[in-house]
Amino acid sequence: MDQKTIVSLEEIYKPIHSFLPAVEERILEILATPNELSSEVVRYFFKSKGKFLRPALVLFGASFGSGIPHFVVTTAAALEIFHSATLIHDDIIDSAYLRRNLPTINAKWNSQVAVLVGDYLHDKAIEAIFETGNDQVIAAFLKTAGIVCDGEILELKEKNNFNLKEDAYFTIIERKTATLLATCLESGAILGGLNVDQVLALKRFGLYFGMAFQIMDDCLDFAGKENEFGKTLGADLQAGVLTLPLIRLITLLDEAGKAEIFSKVKSGLNHSELGDLVLLLREHGALDYSIERAREFNERSALELSIFPDSPSKKSLYALLQYVIERNR
Ligand code: IPE
Ligand code: IPE
Ligand code: MG
Ligand code: MG
Repeated sequence: MDQKTIVSLEEIYKPIHSFLPAVEERILEILATPNELSSEVVRYFFKSKGKFLRPALVLFGASFGSGIPHFVVTTAAALEIFHSATLIHDDIIDSAYLRRNLPTINAKWNSQVAVLVGDYLHDKAIEAIFETGNDQVIAAFLKTAGIVCDGEILELKEKNNFNLKEDAYFTIIERKTATLLATCLESGAILGGLNVDQVLALKRFGLYFGMAFQIMDDCLDFAGKENEFGKTLGADLQAGVLTLPLIRLITLLDEAGKAEIFSKVKSGLNHSELGDLVLLLREHGALDYSIERAREFNERSALELSIFPDSPSKKSLYALLQYVIERNR
């Protein structure tokens, strides 16, 4: 989380980077509409670039086969569009006003626009995934869409629950984040013609990687730099969402310490109180503890790659595990 990012995504994406412009084009093609408001919002949202992790994982999945078939591009686009829909809706739910360093759609327009454009993206993603004509990919996508939604609902249900246990947190992040990343690799692998064992190994890689990815995101929400992270720091906490660093801290505090944190969180933390909380998290090793859990998930991911012969894509997936721990945004 310091300045020392060793691996860049650009470097990691090299084996698949020639396909990325086609994915970007395909996204805009799928979402093209004569409706001026939708098209303005779509242009606005996709102008600010995210990490493009989901399309990259679809392409990586396929790249373990004998070349990336062109129709994989549509699947990669569909999964990024679906991801975008979840972000747009998530920002309403989390009352978030900043994403990718720009005002969210709910902030720039309003929640009504964000609900409808999010739905539009969601529906267009489904339409696009059907173009693959692959029942396995379609089924995996539809199942995942339900699981992501379920994860967000579970998180909502547990808001302000200061007794939230680590296992419940892991269930939430598996559902809201890791499952989709797993499905990206799985879909790419299926379309790339990999055998069942290979498909399942890459799917599990994505699942464990996704756990590490969300844990680190939750650490950055406390200890990142806002201009790099592109999102408002402390946003989870302000919304009453308890994540691993705080869950860990709570297990280490005495009753008086816990009560103090609860009341502060309930009344809302200002900038300096958030700073104090980050210090407390550091003092109690709660951030280090969380990073260690992320590393453990990464180790499980790495094991899944052992069945594949060495290749540039395999090297990139290993590097992605390192990136996820070191990332600032
Ligand atoms: C944000 O995902 C939501 C989480 C799962 C933490 P990303 O961090 O992949 O978002 P973008 O697409 O790069 O902005
Ligand atoms: C990420 O939720 C998962 C989904 C969007 C489904 P978060 O609320 O943790 O992600 P950020 O921090 O807003 O990107
Ligand atoms: Mg959010
Ligand atoms: Mg959220």
